[in-house]
Amino acid sequence: MSGLFEIRSASGGYTVKIEQGSFARLLQEQGGAIYVADEWFQPELSRAGIPALFLAANETTKSLESIPKLILDLKSMGANRQTHILALGGGIVQDVATFVTSVYMRGIPWSYIPTTVLAMVDSCIGGKSSINVGTSKNIVGTFHPPTSITIDPVLAYSLNVEQRVSGLIEAAKICYCKGADTFADYLGLSPGAAIPVDRLESVITLSLMAKKWFIEIDEHDRKERLLLNFGHTFGHAIEGASHFRISHGIGVALGIQCAIEMQRLRGIRYDAGGRAALLEAHLGALLAAVPTLTAEIKALSTEAILDCFQGDKKHGTHAFKVVLIAESGDVELVAMPREEESLRSIRAAVSGAMERFL
Ligand SMILES: NC(=O)c1ccc[n+]([C@@H]2O[C@H](COP(=O)([O-])OP(=O)(O)OC[C@H]3O[C@@H](n4cnc5c(N)ncnc54)[C@H](O)[C@@H]3O)[C@@H](O)[C@H]2O)c1
Ligand SMILES: [Zn+2]
Repeated sequence: MSGLFEIRSASGGYTVKIEQGSFARLLQEQGGAIYVADEWFQPELSRAGIPALFLAANETTKSLESIPKLILDLKSMGANRQTHILALGGGIVQDVATFVTSVYMRGIPWSYIPTTVLAMVDSCIGGKSSINVGTSKNIVGTFHPPTSITIDPVLAYSLNVEQRVSGLIEAAKICYCKGADTFADYLGLSPGAAIPVDRLESVITLSLMAKKWFIEIDEHDRKERLLLNFGHTFGHAIEGASHFRISHGIGVALGIQCAIEMQRLRGIRYDAGGRAALLEAHLGALLAAVPTLTAEIKALSTEAILDCFQGDKKHGTHAFKVVLIAESGDVELVAMPREEESLRSIRAAVSGAMERFL
């Protein structure tokens, strides 16, 4: 199976190709590009004699403080305006490659081979980079889409269960936000930690086609694309409070549970068997496959989550902004005044959500 489609962007379109086995073929036709790669791939690239700059996939690597060394390393590898960079890795390598190629010599072209499920189903399209400064995660960034993206779903099978589940959670979120039909198609593929490769390929296609709708209609996050922050304001706060021991997708699933609890506290009743109830049950099943979840949640402090929540860059000066599920099942952006009463209900929603997984 394989698929090919194009993403329209203000900076020019780019192609996405999904094909099992495509990575092995790319290695043979490397043709002068410089790889910026996750160090996980060091043995394979070295065996193939491919020049590469290897990165450790951690939050320190994508900090502004680490960028000057990477730029100097590229310079010493001979990168110039004609050089094509090929990024190989998950969201960390993608964020770094997007940022560095957007500023190096005022911008050089790059292509991307995502290697985590999260990057395959979500972050590979959209063109954003997010870089940490000090303890502020994703506080600076640029838009600089790659010229092409090649996805080989086979690469997902060396990831651990938590990584695979984390990516599926992002796909569930995107398909849910797109609407009832897309979410039903997603659930029809029975996604789980042991998903076979043909069905994973279908999940990737479905999720990227849904995300394509959001980013083409609203590339720069002004309206529709903001809805994709569903689960993320709470989720980032949970990730931050855990000092990033909880991975991004797992934080998003817990964040979605906080959003559901928040609405229940506000008196919303979701139909049993409706879209919101199906999402809650599906995320519960995905999280049940993560062996360390209970221990990670036990170590969290609600007050630390609340501190991180209040510091999120998506809030306004006078209001907290969160994406919640309306009674109809659709997601909606809700502004809550920055007042003690709002904080009380946010605290109650967070505690209620965490208790469900203890
Ligand atoms: N720019 C965006 O649009 C965007 C969107 C979502 C998330 N992100 C960022 O992405 C980061 C998370 O990225 P991620 O979840 O893709 O993972 P990651 O890049 O953090 O990698 C996770 C782990 O998997 C390993 N790994 C990667 N590919 C592998 C493979 N094929 N086999 C075995 N191990 C492999 C890595 O070495 C690392 O240990 C976060 O920093 C998040 O903020 C960016
Ligand atoms: Zn995300």
